[in-house]
Amino acid sequence: MHSHSVNVSVYSVALARHVGENDDEDLTQFGLGGLLHDLGKSLIDADILNKPSRLTAEEWQVMNTHPEGGYDLLGDLADERTITGQAVIGHHERVNGTGYPHGLEGDNIPLPGRIVSIADAFDALTTKRVYKDAIRAFDALTIMGDEMKGHFDRELLRAFVGLWREGGLVAN
Ligand SMILES: [Fe+2]
Ligand SMILES: [Fe+2]
Repeated sequence: MHSHSVNVSVYSVALARHVGENDDEDLTQFGLGGLLHDLGKSLIDADILNKPSRLTAEEWQVMNTHPEGGYDLLGDLADERTITGQAVIGHHERVNGTGYPHGLEGDNIPLPGRIVSIADAFDALTTKRVYKDAIRAFDALTIMGDEMKGHFDRELLRAFVGLWREGGLVAN
């Protein structure tokens, strides 16, 4: 869990920088957003968080409160206008409008949410397997572009792929 947060933070800053964000303060906030994106999970019952079997619909409902829970926990930092707040609350939105908590579409999802959602999915795909090599970076990016079509901002995803190609990121 800890390494997930760190990875998402690193990927988020790298992608933000790659698409032209260059203000140090802003980049720090992208990093913080990646680090804290799942902060709201700390409010969720351990039985649900660590359940080895499939979650029920009700348990998913509880689980899906974590973006807003984290946003609330951020307190003063969680201003809608801050990059960190937008990253935390927006990281499970999908550009096709099927995400949560608000079901926002396309560019209505603030950039930090769109960036952290890519970083989050990529890290989940490339590290959660028992066999670490099961999903390599290239395959994860392919899955994100095909099977998960509609989840991510296509331009940002293309930029993320470009970042890998250029060797701007190193698989862990
Ligand atoms: Fe999350
Ligand atoms: Fe996550």
